[in-house]
Amino acid sequence: MTYKILEGKRGIIFGALDEHSIAWKTAESVSDAGGNFVLTNAPVAMRMGTISELSKKTGSDVIPADATKIEDLESLIKQSTEKLGGKLDFILHSIGMSVNVRKGKHYTDLNYDWMTKGWDVSAVSFHKLMQCLFKTDAMNSWGSIVALSYIAAQRTFPNYNDMADNKAYLESIARSFGYFFGKNKKVRVNTISQSPTLTTAGKGVSGLDGFLKYAEKISPLGNATAKECADYTVSLFSDYTRKVTLQNLYHDGGFSNVGVSQEIIDTLN
Ligand SMILES: NC(=O)c1ccc[n+]([C@@H]2O[C@H](COP(=O)([O-])OP(=O)(O)OC[C@H]3O[C@@H](n4cnc5c(N)ncnc54)[C@H](O)[C@@H]3O)[C@@H](O)[C@H]2O)c1
Repeated sequence: MTYKILEGKRGIIFGALDEHSIAWKTAESVSDAGGNFVLTNAPVAMRMGTISELSKKTGSDVIPADATKIEDLESLIKQSTEKLGGKLDFILHSIGMSVNVRKGKHYTDLNYDWMTKGWDVSAVSFHKLMQCLFKTDAMNSWGSIVALSYIAAQRTFPNYNDMADNKAYLESIARSFGYFFGKNKKVRVNTISQSPTLTTAGKGVSGLDGFLKYAEKISPLGNATAKECADYTVSLFSDYTRKVTLQNLYHDGGFSNVGVSQEIIDTLN
């Protein structure tokens, strides 16, 4: 049963590429909960993905924007508030990309131009987005901004490469900007640290299958799916979590607090 806990709320959802994307599932869940939003993605992703299907399904407009370009973000925010009829209540930043991961460059042999591109897309874009929202006063009080992260920001996962550093940077930006957004505008900023999930970005990490199986065996509740992440995000956009801010919230079936599980011990024995 879906409760209409986002009725009357407006927002922008970044990062729905195809039906596997966490942002795609979030758009569906937000729509089911009564929220209205604009969908956006990088112009190149518009050609590769199937976002128009989602737009039809949820009755949302699509406005292309490269999240690393200030002029794209300013125009997106302006058009979104006009189309939706007022200031925004929620934002999902569901964006990640590492050129080094894509091209199979090892962490001990990084290409620094690619590294710079990766942190601009995966982390600094979150700062750019919030700075544009802040300066244009585009968020309503008690609004909520969420970005997606991964536990490689805290612990080492050898194949996650420079995305681990990008996620640490992203989580720090959430806390640092969240302070000012809270003080000045009464807006929450949090990151969700999600279980490994089979999506286009996820599949880019080599050995994801093994990763997924390992996490499944460690987590007492099993891995969290993209749909479950979407529903958690709905709760963070709702009025039920108005005093939750500056947090990195683990949505991982308990993975982050387990040392070892009996299943893993049994496997090794
Ligand atoms: N899949 C996983 O295992 C997993 C786990 C934890 C966190 N996450 C995070 O979840 C988020 C969403 O990833 P996903 O797994 O749904 O994969 P996905 O590939 O479906 O989504 C990534 C999105 O980033 C967009 N993007 C890339 N460059 C962009 C740019 N310059 N401007 C705007 N958008 C751009 C892509 O077009 C794509 O839609 C990412 O931050 C990812 O790191 C994923």
